[in-house]
Amino acid sequence: MGVEIRVEGLTKAFGRQTIWQDVSLTVPAGEISVLLGPSGTGKSVFLKSLVGLLKPDRGHIWIGDRDLPYLPEHQLYETRKLFGVLFQDGALFGSMNLYDNIAFPLREHTKKSESDIRRVVMEKMDMVGLLGSENKLPGEISGGMKKRAGLARALVLDPEILLVDEPDSGLDPVRTALLNQLFIDLNAQINATFLIVTHDINTARTIPDNIGMLYRRELVMFGPREMLLSSEEPVVRQFLNARRAGPIGMSEEKDVSELEAESKMGLDVGTLPPIQPQLMPSDGRIRAAQHAPGAWCAAHGVTPPPGSFVDDLGRNWVEEWPRYVASQQAAAMHGGQPGHPGGAQY
Ligand SMILES: Nc1ncnc2c1ncn2[C@@H]1O[C@H](COP(=O)(O)OP(=O)(O)OP(=O)(O)O)[C@@H](O)[C@H]1O
Ligand SMILES: [Mg+2]
Repeated sequence: MGVEIRVEGLTKAFGRQTIWQDVSLTVPAGEISVLLGPSGTGKSVFLKSLVGLLKPDRGHIWIGDRDLPYLPEHQLYETRKLFGVLFQDGALFGSMNLYDNIAFPLREHTKKSESDIRRVVMEKMDMVGLLGSENKLPGEISGGMKKRAGLARALVLDPEILLVDEPDSGLDPVRTALLNQLFIDLNAQINATFLIVTHDINTARTIPDNIGMLYRRELVMFGPREMLLSSEEPVVRQFLNARRAGPIGMSEEKDVSELEAESKMGLDVGTLPPIQPQLMPSDGRIRAAQHAPGAWCAAHGVTPPPGSFVDDLGRNWVEEWPRYVASQQAAAMHGGQPGHPGGAQY
């Protein structure tokens, strides 16, 4: 059911350059979390720290009762096996075909026979829609296929935690949408803890259970999607709504005079757009980590922006949800395939 990652007071600097400081958050077990932030704020450095490739200067990364930065080498090696990682550039070996690339962690970390390896590799290639491309070299396939091959490789050791660095960079909107659906489907199947770094606002608004945001060397906020999507905090609001006006500028931070000029020009952050329904597994099942739409807002007395939780067909999922859960449970009890929710979003 995935493993929780508890980060406490984490600080990382390279020489005199502090990348981020005093970052504390809990990535809930089995849920999908997304980490956002302007370019250069240290999102990749954060992921590399979580998996033990970079050592923080201060703070703790608890994986169960193990504090990762302080583990002796052999325990770190063992703990790393809990992780599957898809790096920003895919990091496939250019001279190996996709089959061998994906088989690599199994040959490296397990004593499985070649026939067992074949079974796992083909299963994961099937999961990411790459069956038939086993003999292709990374140089012969599209950007989207490379990402999916990297994802298959991150999955072969059945990770409890999947870290993914910008899976959607360089992909067209259709491929990004397909990949996003794949993450939701994968999470429903393997129940691992997912942490995805992305710049794509649509991904951030529709995929995760939780959203976090790094800005100006701090973690501005981390919490349930409904908390951030209804937040009035200026940085969160600007980034999640892709606005030009707000504290974030091209050089990451605007100075005071720029902000003053903007307020004189009457640019403001505008009203919050509706919270879209979260993407659902394509086979209609309900993810173990799924929260009921609107539940966080209701529990915290927050009125979501008008039009929230309404899908393309005009259905309001705060009202629809109990019925949907009951119908899926009934379908499961009768051993039948649960029905498709109708459209990619519930
Ligand atoms: N090994 C390293 N040594 C020194 N500085 C580094 C190292 N790795 C990263 N940095 C610096 O840390 C900062 C954050 O880099 P990082 O790659 O984590 O940013 P990012 O948020 O992932 O950006 P992007 O969205 O563009 O991928 C940058 O200033 C970068 O130059
Ligand atoms: Mg990065």
